[in-house]
Amino acid sequence: MTDSGGYILVTGANGQLGKAICSALDTEMAPVLAYSSKKLDITNPDAVEKAFSSKKINWLVNCAAYTNVDGAENAFPAAMEANAVAVGHLALICRDLDIPMIHFSSDYVYDNGLTRPLSESDPLNPRSIYAISKLAGEDIIRETWHKHLILRTSWLYSHEGHNFLNTMLRLGSENKHLKIVDDQLGAPTYVADLASAVRSMIRIIEDSGDQSGFWGTYNISNAGETTWYAYARAIFEFASLDVDCEPTDTASFNAAAPRPAYSVLSNQKLNDVFGLKLQNWKAALKKCLQEKGNSGG
Ligand SMILES: NC(=O)c1ccc[n+]([C@@H]2O[C@H](COP(=O)([O-])OP(=O)(O)OC[C@H]3O[C@@H](n4cnc5c(N)ncnc54)[C@H](OP(=O)(O)O)[C@@H]3O)[C@@H](O)[C@H]2O)c1
Repeated sequence: MTDSGGYILVTGANGQLGKAICSALDTEMAPVLAYSSKKLDITNPDAVEKAFSSKKINWLVNCAAYTNVDGAENAFPAAMEANAVAVGHLALICRDLDIPMIHFSSDYVYDNGLTRPLSESDPLNPRSIYAISKLAGEDIIRETWHKHLILRTSWLYSHEGHNFLNTMLRLGSENKHLKIVDDQLGAPTYVADLASAVRSMIRIIEDSGDQSGFWGTYNISNAGETTWYAYARAIFEFASLDVDCEPTDTASFNAAAPRPAYSVLSNQKLNDVFGLKLQNWKAALKKCLQEKGNSGG
């Protein structure tokens, strides 16, 4: 899949998406350098330079990020350091070494009041510190190095790690009654589906004679839309947990960071350019829970 002797470097390899990316790419011929935050802190310029100079890298897949959305409200420097400054440094190195860079951003950069699936060219209006830092990271990449795929995704979950699915499974087994926000619309996205699409994108680009039409920013999520409340109900139904769910609103929940009321992503560009389409979020959730059951995770 890649030039012989080259590696795909995955940063943030111990995160929920990083793990899925490593296992999706591992099934291919390309060797993967899976660097957790301990192995490579992307905010340490010397360590980053060393990682790129010690091995031949053919692709960078940056899964490292400051991802604590509420925590970022009181941690502006840390969020900007990881999500923008370090990302800019990675983009500079990739430019200097001619390495294509895949990077992930968030549906939270939109928050523009529109209530139909959002396309890449729709207005941006990040309101939380997290979203501001993610958009800053996007902008730095776009200004630095054209061989990039910036993939805006939403509501990620995996069978392991810190995410809404696992929080609901834990709370659902402890409580019979839960209040869940019902006035934010989005699309839960299974990291295995996202990782498999990333693998396809790399393969499509590598197999293409002219790569120039592929670089850019894409929205990518499982298909369909839901609210956190309806998502939780689907989790409890599929996991056979008897939980009484009560809808509540964002204002009552009182989270530290503002979140968009609507952030469903149109995947039309992904489909037009790469011919890729992710399955519906409910089918993906069912599959994840089956895999979780099988793995005992
Ligand atoms: N989670 C979502 O719902 C969601 C939605 C939209 C977009 N995204 C984006 O998707 C990407 C992957 O998110 P995720 O859900 O996989 O998050 P995650 O599970 O929190 O993983 C992020 C990983 O980045 C690592 N990391 C943090 N700071 C680092 C640094 N300075 N150097 C190296 N590694 C560092 C973390 O390591 P430690 O744990 O050791 O700190 C963690 O393993 C991120 O870009 C995120 O912004 C996520």
